[in-house]
Amino acid sequence: MIFRSILAWALGLAAGLPLAAPAAAQETVKVGLIATLTGPQAASGRQKVAGARLYMAEKGNMVAGKRIELIIKDDTGVADVTRRHAQELIVNDKVAALAGFSLTPLALAVAPVITQAKTPAIIMTAGTSIITERSPYFVRVSFTLPQQTVPVAEWVAKEGAKTAVSLVSDYGPGIDAQDAFKMRFEERGGKVIDQLKAPLANPEFAPFLQKARDLKPDVLFLFVPAPTAGALMRQVIDRGLTSANIRVVGTGDITDDDQLNGIGDNVLGLITSHFYSAAHGSAANQKFVAEFKKANPGMRPNFIGVSGYDGMHAFYEALKKTNGDTSGDKLVEAMKGLTWESPRGMMTIDPQTRDVIQDVYIRKVEKKDGELYNVEFDVVKQVKDPIHK
Ligand code: PHB
Repeated sequence: MIFRSILAWALGLAAGLPLAAPAAAQETVKVGLIATLTGPQAASGRQKVAGARLYMAEKGNMVAGKRIELIIKDDTGVADVTRRHAQELIVNDKVAALAGFSLTPLALAVAPVITQAKTPAIIMTAGTSIITERSPYFVRVSFTLPQQTVPVAEWVAKEGAKTAVSLVSDYGPGIDAQDAFKMRFEERGGKVIDQLKAPLANPEFAPFLQKARDLKPDVLFLFVPAPTAGALMRQVIDRGLTSANIRVVGTGDITDDDQLNGIGDNVLGLITSHFYSAAHGSAANQKFVAEFKKANPGMRPNFIGVSGYDGMHAFYEALKKTNGDTSGDKLVEAMKGLTWESPRGMMTIDPQTRDVIQDVYIRKVEKKDGELYNVEFDVVKQVKDPIHK
């Protein structure tokens, strides 16, 4: 077989046909998945690798006549490492696309690299609104913080809350979340009396939680990146905030499916808004959760796992639409406007912004079959990022 294709190639050469590598060498299309697999954000990388691998295991690795190869790199959560991996994957491995990006600064670090190389990069976690504006080659399948925050701000206002304090990690997505919370809560007649910010690197929340408690707001709104949620929520419980007549709410990052059981029963009843829950009742999600658990014993998919899965879907569908053409411009064009049923519900890549449009659910922590879950009880349909439309 190989001999025959080399022979055909040599004959082509002899016939003066355009120089082309043997067919076999052209048929692999590579995707570089840059995940954070070590350090404090390692839970993020574990989820997105599991989600991406599950998609490939289910759908096979042949798309539009090409064999898809996933190359996985660990950026350890350090932006310089993310950028170096991106450069090497593009230059040495000649990937058709990059994917991953567990933290906003890691996504921002590759923006100039992908723009220059015209290589698409599928964001599977990082949630600061501005990211997709930093390169026309970014496509996001995860979420933005304002998109997730506005529904819970509306919900607490509707429940009659008048005053609130926010506490967020002090970097891009945290600032987006606190601003979106204040904007919508105050539009609905509430007042944010303080906006507290804790450093991302050293998650010592006690002094901020004490301050929040002393301010006696009706509501405490929280956001931290999901892998930090366990540390935050244990301190929230230790400080007695869940029993202090303050309604603690947040984006679903703080009751992330990956961490929730480890946080414990004190978070029962906690309300969050988010785009994914392992308890989502659709047939597509039940199948996804069952397959994910089978392939990853001891793990439950969270919003990062489902974004790894959906990120591969976006790439597969784009490559089908281009008939296997891996030009970066064509792939990005093909991803614009894609709509599909994800385990999370229906989702669309906004053709204008390349950002994700999706349902955002209001959920309550409940116990089912001895485990904690975010049980959805209300939904805001097909939410666009409310800040950078
Ligand atoms: C981010 O850095 O943008 C980020 C990371 C983890 C999250 C949310 C946002 O859970």
